[in-house]
Amino acid sequence: MTETKPQHADLVIRSARLIDGTGSPSTHGDVAISNDRIVAVGLLGKIAGSYEIEANGKALAPGFIDVHTHDDRALLSDPTMACKVSQGVTTVITGNCGISLAPLSSKSLPPPLDLIADQPGSLFTDFAAYLNALEADPPAVNAAAQVGHSTLRIGALDNLERAATDKEIRRMRNQLDQALEDGAIGMSTGLYYDLASAAPTEEVIELAKSVNDAAGIHTTHMRNEGDHIETSLEESFRIGREADVPIVISHHKVGGLSNHGRSRQTLKMIDEAQTQQAIAFDVYPYVASSTVLGVKRLEAASRIVVTWSKPHPEMSGRDLSDIADEMGCDLIQTAQALAPAGAIYFMMSEDDVRRILSHPNAMIGSDGLPHDDHPHPRLWGTFPRVLGHYVREQGLFTLEEAVRRMTTLPAAQFGLVDRGKISVGSYADLVLFNPETVIDRATFEAPSQTAEGIDLVMVNGRIIWKEGAPTGARPGLALRRQSLGPMGLNPSVGR
Ligand code: ZN
Ligand code: CU
Repeated sequence: MTETKPQHADLVIRSARLIDGTGSPSTHGDVAISNDRIVAVGLLGKIAGSYEIEANGKALAPGFIDVHTHDDRALLSDPTMACKVSQGVTTVITGNCGISLAPLSSKSLPPPLDLIADQPGSLFTDFAAYLNALEADPPAVNAAAQVGHSTLRIGALDNLERAATDKEIRRMRNQLDQALEDGAIGMSTGLYYDLASAAPTEEVIELAKSVNDAAGIHTTHMRNEGDHIETSLEESFRIGREADVPIVISHHKVGGLSNHGRSRQTLKMIDEAQTQQAIAFDVYPYVASSTVLGVKRLEAASRIVVTWSKPHPEMSGRDLSDIADEMGCDLIQTAQALAPAGAIYFMMSEDDVRRILSHPNAMIGSDGLPHDDHPHPRLWGTFPRVLGHYVREQGLFTLEEAVRRMTTLPAAQFGLVDRGKISVGSYADLVLFNPETVIDRATFEAPSQTAEGIDLVMVNGRIIWKEGAPTGARPGLALRRQSLGPMGLNPSVGR
């Protein structure tokens, strides 16, 4: 059957370096779009567009999928989503690290829930209400949302410093089942954090069975990403096997000076597990992490920068050690004085970051914290940093390969049907960028800066970013589980 090309399209983008998302070498050509879909790809001299864009050889790629975000509330409070759109991101996955805004009503916001909720009124008692709010006042980007295990725990347990009882597990499963029915795509855990660290593996397995029932996905901020990282990987694999769910290891890293180099071992473990079960991971391209400011994280870091503080907002952006000197306190006392607060922790090695990024199955996830006063630069810089710094400047892998890790790989992992690829019939989620100049400008000192070299971004056929600014269009969809395909890469696909 030969494909019949239309004679006319809403929009034709001409003379682009087409990077289709599959990792194959780029080609030169045009892309025609009508309504929300790509209708033709190739040399389209015969098709006239109502509107035409001359790409002049710049790169046209599928819009990037940010697989690890905390954009749950930002999608509602700042729907133009400039921090992500300016990087070429067109779809975000929310509800990570065990925290989501729904389903929960609570008078208190224990950390790290305070990273995404600024007041109890930000929460939604049911997941349908959250997704409906997204649809009623849509953001510029598409979003798929997970339920946080810690969010469920806050709703079901009177004391979070213990395992859930059978009755509480049933209650959480009912809530989770309903959320999945409402359109959540899976469940995340943050076993590292106090809200969930008392939860035994068995508690998570029981809940993950609900995720299996809904053919969803399970992502995890593991119990430990430092001294005991291998044990935590084993735990994650076990949850995946026993509940029979695909697992995503979130923001894979090895933290703490004494653990530097251990990514050799952890990637080997992931490779082996991938031959048996669906295991994936994401990574952000920085040697510093960021989360709430807490006493147990102080030792592992060589430098700590405050990102926000409720009682001392004026300390945002400053080094904790400088504040400690000024206050005449030690680091622990200073952290306590600033809490509730957030921080950046310099604790990974460049070699580990490069090794993890270089893995062919590494997805890219920003883990950006959009409500921080002085956020980690990953919020604005992740994707251009991979393309400009790690690909062009450092030659870590090809541009086509980088784009694959940001597009078809995550689309397959999260079941995003007809997204992540430039092909006829796919949604027109696209980014036009200059591969010679694309780079992150966000730094640890000045983090809220748009990237350079991202010329145009389109979601569902509508332009959302142009000439360095949002257009105001908000065509983003809430991607409900029911509209998505199978999740997790089949283990035989492995690598
Ligand atoms: Zn996390
Ligand atoms: Cu996170």
